[in-house]
Amino acid sequence: MTLKSKNIETILAEKRVFKPSKKFQQRAHIASMKEYLSLYEKSIKDPEKFWGKVASELTWFKKWSKVLDETEAPFYKWFVNGKTNITVNCLDRHLDTATRNKAAIIWEGEPKDRRTLTYSQLLQEVSLFASALKNLGIQRGDRVAIYLPMIPELAISVLACARIGAVHTVIFAGFSAEAIRDRVLDSESKLVITSDGGWRKGNILPLKQTVDDALHECPCVRHVVVVKRGQGEPFPCHIKEGRDHWYHRIIDDASAKCPAEPMDSEDMLFLLYTSGTTGKPKGIIHTTGGYMVYTYLTSKYVFDLRPEDVYWCTADIGWVTGHSYLVYGPLMNGATVFMYEGAPNWPDWGRFWSMIQDNSISIFYTAPTAIRAFMKWGEEWPNKYDLSSLRLLGTVGESINPEAWMWYHRVIGAEKCPIVDTWWQTETGGIMITPLPGCVPTKPGSATVPFFGVDAAVLSEEGKEVEAGILSIRKPWPGMLRGIYGDKERYKQTYWSKWPGKYFPGDGARKDSDGYFWILGRIDDVVNVAGHRIGTAELESIFVEYPSVAESAVIGIDHEIKGKCLVGFITLKDGVLATEALEKELKEWAGKKIGRFAIPDKIIFSADLPKTRSGKIMRRLLRDIATGRALGNVTTLAESNVVEQLREKYEED
Ligand code: PRX
Repeated sequence: MTLKSKNIETILAEKRVFKPSKKFQQRAHIASMKEYLSLYEKSIKDPEKFWGKVASELTWFKKWSKVLDETEAPFYKWFVNGKTNITVNCLDRHLDTATRNKAAIIWEGEPKDRRTLTYSQLLQEVSLFASALKNLGIQRGDRVAIYLPMIPELAISVLACARIGAVHTVIFAGFSAEAIRDRVLDSESKLVITSDGGWRKGNILPLKQTVDDALHECPCVRHVVVVKRGQGEPFPCHIKEGRDHWYHRIIDDASAKCPAEPMDSEDMLFLLYTSGTTGKPKGIIHTTGGYMVYTYLTSKYVFDLRPEDVYWCTADIGWVTGHSYLVYGPLMNGATVFMYEGAPNWPDWGRFWSMIQDNSISIFYTAPTAIRAFMKWGEEWPNKYDLSSLRLLGTVGESINPEAWMWYHRVIGAEKCPIVDTWWQTETGGIMITPLPGCVPTKPGSATVPFFGVDAAVLSEEGKEVEAGILSIRKPWPGMLRGIYGDKERYKQTYWSKWPGKYFPGDGARKDSDGYFWILGRIDDVVNVAGHRIGTAELESIFVEYPSVAESAVIGIDHEIKGKCLVGFITLKDGVLATEALEKELKEWAGKKIGRFAIPDKIIFSADLPKTRSGKIMRRLLRDIATGRALGNVTTLAESNVVEQLREKYEED
């Protein structure tokens, strides 16, 4: 394992500490370190008591008989035999309170069209669509794929599936037709929900066309529901008779009453595909009860939600952050959620800040990559707007470099908003390491301390606690994944085999003398590009499928804005010439196979790939070549003896 030494140097030098203001602290849910530490200790000593108490704050059709069943570890079960439905907790539960007429979702489209749905209106919309899904023959347990832009119907679709016990699998709208096909086939989805289009940087995303391309090879799909986003716009859309149904037509014929299906705690709630270290994306399984309790509590405490907050998480619902902290968590807490369809820089770099001003947003949760892009465009953009409604800021998806943290703190937070740097993963379901904003002093670049019930540690390969090493979670927690769809063995192997009984998330970490965690990035072959996880093996196998490619190796290198970017080393088949045109074709190929966000920034043609004597690709050498450290700026490594000489030199190091 190579931990990034530059990263360690930066964070070792970081000594600044920021305490929450008295004003923030006074009204916070958890307002002192004493309270945090005492609750944390209880949560670790007696997790069943702790989580049982939290779960009792929510509505269940039938109470669980046991909080945690470890008998078939690592196939843990939470809230055993409990019956509930997460939508009852997101929606119905608020209808007897003042929350009923409060805005649940305030939505703004990229062309500035707007919609607000109160809690009672949202329940009505969800019930209508849930009934319509039933009318199309969707039953509990069926899988439904969702490929939509960030419009209210995306949240409604997710909730409508959950209402009737169908398993949703949301596919981020940036994925290509082939990526959709693979996910639809793996999950055996019966129905796909999409739209005629969506807006992004003033352009129309032709989502329905992409779905049509994907479905040529998906016999499992019986129906496609199409939301009309176009409203008279020239959105390209072909409706296939018998298979495709307009959303607005089917909800016209549907009942507005759709009682929530009583689900077992361990019934599957959703599948979400993510990249791993092998060529095939993994369908991460989340179930009902534990995920519900965990996202409820993390939302409440990490975002310190109060009734008057307007909360904005900029993540797309196509990623786990959108599932847990745009839809389920905040709605269970009765919050007002702001949702935006388009790009941060449309029509200009002031868009986010104008929306914060105009909607009096008080909590803002985004990714370091976005913060770095805003830094680059200059503080004159945020400075044009009144951001005084903000009281709390958050980040997620990758480590935030102290410089970006300080910019966020000073320019966006006016030095008064705590910043919660939240570490977690698709697999963890919810936030795992994070400051609680009313009590935990923050250090720029550190995700700070574990959340309640999270037994985090930094371990060596052998499982001993060390200062710098590999992050591990030593106890199960309610929001944890329950498996990889269709592959029990891979679940055990990937997450629970490094140290028996302990979860391995794939990140390097350091723990300082205050017990604060500093995440050092992935230690496996997964690269985090602008907060999107991309498996290098997945891209490598895609390149090798290209007719003129013999071999490929993909690595991640540092990138000023995106955190990391991808570089592909390609060895061509005999007689094929390395040309600029071929480089372009290969980039387009990656875009076609996965999505544009997975296109490498750079392709380097190489006569050979440097390998160790045992045949392992020398990724450190490739990284040094790609960053110019080994050879200066190269685009082609034409002669194999160059690589050979380098290999020898690196092996001597
Ligand atoms: O490497 C860690 C990084 O993102 C990975 C998880 O990616 P994904 O499943 O796509 O979920 C992203 C949103 C939860 C982790 O293994 N990561 C996430 N948050 C942080 C982070 N790295 C450092 N600091 C964070 N706050």
